[in-house]
Formats: sequence, C-alpha cells, structure tokens
Amino acid sequence: MSLDHDPSDLLPVVDDYRSNQCFVHPQTCRWSCGNQCAHPAPNESGNEYFGAVARRYISRRRLLGFGALAAGMLVVGKNTVLGAETARAQSAGSSSGLNFTPVKLDGSDRIIVPPGYKSEILIRWGDPLFLDPGTGFEFGKQTAAQQERQFGYNCDYLGFIPLAKDRALLIANHEYTNPELMFPGYDPENPTKEQVDYELAAHGVSVVHIERHPMRGWRYTLGAWHNRRITGTTPMRLTGPAAGHPWMRTSADPAGYTVLGTLNNCSAGITPWGTVLTCEENFNQYFANNDQVADAAKKAAHKRYGLPGGASERKWERFHKRFDLAQEPNEAFRFGWVVEFDPHDPGSLPRKHTALGRFKHEATSTVIARDGRAVVYMGDDERFDYVYKFVSDGKYDPNDRQANFRLLESGTLYAAKFKDDGTGEWIPLIAGQGKLTAANGFANQGDVCIKTRLAADLVGATRMDRPEDIEVNPANGYIYAAMTNNSQRGTSGRPGTDAANPRAENRHGHIIEMMPAGGDHAAPTFQWRFLMLCGDPAKDKGTYFAGFDQSLVSPISSPDNITFDRRGNLWISTDGQPSTFKKNDGVFAVPVAGPERGYNRQFLSGVPGGECASLVFSDNDDTLFVSIQHPGEGSTLENLTSNFPDGKEPRPTVIFVMKDDGGVIGS
Ligand code: FEO
Ligand code: CA
Ligand code: CA
Repeated sequence: MSLDHDPSDLLPVVDDYRSNQCFVHPQTCRWSCGNQCAHPAPNESGNEYFGAVARRYISRRRLLGFGALAAGMLVVGKNTVLGAETARAQSAGSSSGLNFTPVKLDGSDRIIVPPGYKSEILIRWGDPLFLDPGTGFEFGKQTAAQQERQFGYNCDYLGFIPLAKDRALLIANHEYTNPELMFPGYDPENPTKEQVDYELAAHGVSVVHIERHPMRGWRYTLGAWHNRRITGTTPMRLTGPAAGHPWMRTSADPAGYTVLGTLNNCSAGITPWGTVLTCEENFNQYFANNDQVADAAKKAAHKRYGLPGGASERKWERFHKRFDLAQEPNEAFRFGWVVEFDPHDPGSLPRKHTALGRFKHEATSTVIARDGRAVVYMGDDERFDYVYKFVSDGKYDPNDRQANFRLLESGTLYAAKFKDDGTGEWIPLIAGQGKLTAANGFANQGDVCIKTRLAADLVGATRMDRPEDIEVNPANGYIYAAMTNNSQRGTSGRPGTDAANPRAENRHGHIIEMMPAGGDHAAPTFQWRFLMLCGDPAKDKGTYFAGFDQSLVSPISSPDNITFDRRGNLWISTDGQPSTFKKNDGVFAVPVAGPERGYNRQFLSGVPGGECASLVFSDNDDTLFVSIQHPGEGSTLENLTSNFPDGKEPRPTVIFVMKDDGGVIGS
C-alpha cells in the first residue's frame, strides 16, 4: 500500500482530516495504513537514521563493493556512463537473459506489457471459490456470508506452490478494504454492521487451486479441495514466548492463546517446508481509543505502534468491542504477527508465531542456514523502523515436514544495525541482555516479542526508510531489501536533511543488497551496499543503478514487493508512482550480476489508483502473476478513475502474463 508522499502532491483540502495528510488520494491513507502519514512517525528513539549511514557509506565506499559483484559499484549521482561494465553490456548483448522491449510509464486504464506478451485475468474480488449456490458476485448486493466463500478484496502477496504438471496453488493475501468502492452509498461516518462484517470477511488470505490449459493459459478451479478462505474472524493459535502472556489475555480469551482472525496481511513467504507465512502489517488502523487505556505501559506500547487515541477511521469498534481499546486494551497485542498455515490442509489451524516479533510485518523470506537452522528475514514497514531476522533454535528436517512446523516457535530475534563501513550487525533481542531489562519493561521474552519495536529502539538498531519486501536471491544467496520511500527524512527536525545526501526527503526509495558473513545466514554480521537508488535519472541527480548507464534505464519509484526469476534477475513491483511520477505503478526487472547489473527496465504498467502489489513466477518462469490492488483508489463510484478489469466497478484482480510463444518471461 502507498503511505508516503510529497506534500506538493496535495489536492485542495476538503476537511480537517484531509488537511493533515500528505497523500494525493485520501482514501489510500485512510484505509490502507490507517492514515499514518497524518501522524508523526512513531519511532522517537535516538537511533541512528539510515540516511546518515547511507551518506557516509556512499561517500567512503562508493567505489567499493563485496564479493564477485564488486565491479558494478560505481559513482552515485551522475547520469553518465560509468565504467567498463556498462560498455560491455551495450556491446555484448544480454547476459541476464532479459531481452524484452521495455514499456513506458503510462496513465491509461489498461495493463500494458511488452510486445509479444499478453495479460489476462485469473481471479478477482468476489469470484466464488466454492460450489455453494448463491455465492456468485453481484456488485452492491453482497453479504458477509457470501464473501467468506469468495476471493477477498485487495489482493496483495502472491505465492505459487506447484502441485503437479500444470497444477498449482495460488496464495493471495487480502490486505485491506476500500468500502467507498465496495458499497454504493457508503457513508464513512456511519458504516453499518453489515458492511463491517463484510469487510472482516473480505480481509485475510485465499488459497486457490489453479490449472494451466494448453490454449487458454491459467484458470482457477472452482470448488477445488484445496480452496480456502482465511478471514478477519478465522480462529488461530498463538505460539511462542508471548502466547498466554498477561497482555495477550482478553475477555473472550482469558488464557491468551486463541485469536479470531488475521488483518492487513500485506506480503508473505513460503517456507522450505511448504507452509505460508502471512504478515500482519498496518493492524493499528482497526483499533480505537488508546487515550482511554488506563495502563500507562500498555498505552505507551500502543502509541509506539501508531494506534489512534480516539475513534478509528473504520469505526469497527462500534460493532465489535474487541476493536475498542477502552473495553479490550489487550486485543491489539494479538495482531502484528507472522501467521503460519499449511496450504495443503484446508482444515489446519493457522498459528501466530510470537517468537518472530510484533511489528508492522511486511514480508518474510525463509532460508536454511548451514547448520540447518531456519532463518527468516523480515521488515517493519514504517518510516524510521527496522529490519529483522529470526534464527530458529531447532533444525530443519527435510524428511519430517510436521516436525518443521515447530521451528518458528522458538529461536532468537535480531534487529539490523547498518554501519558506515559497509558492514552490518544483527543485534539479538533477548530479555535480560543489555538494555532489555525488567526495569526497562522487558522482564521476559514475551515482553520483547510483544514490544519488539521498543526493544529494537533500546539496542540501537538502524532506523530505515520503510522496509518493504526482503528476499533472499536463490541464485547468489544475497539478501535484497526494498526501502520504499520516506519523504519525512530531513523534515520536522528529523535527521538527514543534508543537501549532500542524495536521498534526502527520500520520495523514490532504494534497494539494499546484503551478504551474510561467510555466506551463512545464521552469522551475526553481514556486508551491505546499494543496488539501486530509485527515481527518474533524467530529472533526479541522486539516482543510482549499480553503476549502469542511467540514460538507458527505466525510471522507477517506490519499490515494494520483489521476486527473482530463475536466472536470479530481480523483479520489482511498485507502490507510489501515481504520486511521485503521476503515472501508474508497474513491474520492473533488473539484473543483479554481470555487465547488465543495474539495467532496470519496466515490464508492465498497471491501472489508475492501482498498486502492483505483488508478483510471482510459475515454476518454469513462463508465467508472471501480478496482483492489481485497489484499482481506482482515490476516486469514487460516481466518478471512477478505473473500471478495471471488466469495464464496470473496479475489482482488485490477479492477472497473469505469458509470452505469445509460450517462452520464458523476459527472454
Ligand atoms: Fe502493505 Fe508495506 O505494503
Ligand atoms: Ca506497499
Ligand atoms: Ca507491500
């Protein structure tokens, strides 16, 4: 979801609420992230701001790199050809296997792909998943009971799990809802219980069986045994150090082990043992009335996570007391977690793993360390918040899938510190160690897990520019982390406004490449460098594309979700270009090795108001699935900016892209 935009983008203000925000589309701030742009970033710690680190790093190490990829690391801030690598790229043809003709930034209401490619609809909001009668979609006449049996709203993360030849499971998160585009006549001041219950059912996750037909491409399988909906009311179990903690107990769950639902599931990941880790991001927006919480420690913790002092924008608390902190001060502690479920078992109980910490989880990327332990990389998508990793106590067993289901219940959580010499440190967050004492509010590990942000504040982790997706590239073992943007940098007394800093008021974001020490993901240290400082090189001297000739690259802003093709090329979806470029979001591809390292090219252009929220390849790379989230966001049903995909009311949709000749995507 888009969060952070330049004040110059403001439309004329229309009420007090909108006058505080910095977004071109008020509904985006209101529904996607709980209007967090209108509030100060909740990290008031004195930890070193990432931009300051980056500034020193660029100035001191801009000609350096690490490992085999070092040759691509050249001068920042120049739009000229920077070295022999670029010259070779232009003379030797493609080494990355990427040979498509880039598309351009576009603002029209259609999906644009390169010549020789086609895009089609796979599944959209409201499409029925089961064979029940009466679950067909009819706009404006939906019920919560129907929605629980249909594909949910605002598809975000996409996962592809092969089952057999031409059969797979598609995993799709349903991050949030846009009630103004879902319900004709919606009154934001007076939502109805029927609408709220419908929205709870429209959140969560879908598991959808899909099949490939020789001529027609991919289709979803109505009524397939695997099909499943997880929603905002699905029962799930808490595990780990915070399960049963006094702060996890509510009137509905006095033991503190059972939660109803998962909310604001942004991105996710597939584990090596084939389960899904879906991530609860901006959960703060669903809760209300922190000002009425009597316990000062709880109130402070809620504030650090951005929970509102008064009414919520969604006003769900009017109908469900668990969203009212005045009545249930602990319910919000039961959100902000990573949720694991088994997509191969539609009846399995999802589990919220508290050992992985509580923050605005964007995504997970899970790998197995050399000694067999599971390592999960994670980011907290908030301005000035942190990058994390978790290392399990137990070891992965390739011969015992069920045993691996316990791996994420115990282990060590770390927050990242990026140093200005191009190295980094994983700082353990362990109760009783260093500043994480009982006197500071961390009497046990459950406290650390519930108040992870506050723990990371104390240990001096590096404050980042909104960590979005973090993924390990299977081709080289490096970690890629997308910092989507942070235009607050250098404003309102924030550090890092030095004019020499190429990313001051970071509107376009950047991508960091990290290498674990010795290639071991369990190692306590790493090296890091930039892959990309995003923007339009023709207009912005602060951009950087790993030293590649910037006159050749596609402009890109606000990198969000990322994935890799089989060659290890990085593919990026964006969330923010309608604000920064006044054009639609898109999908981009960039090699991370060889002479084309940094050669960023746009592959797809989305639709007005719609984020390209996630992307994933089929197992043989001949299909790219893309989620088109919130088409038409920022407009109204009376005056829509998008009618995607059917020429009617907009519906969040998963599309797939294939080559006309059936070949590998990008080739
Ligand atoms: Fe939901 Fe951080 O994007
Ligand atoms: Ca986003
Ligand atoms: Ca995202």
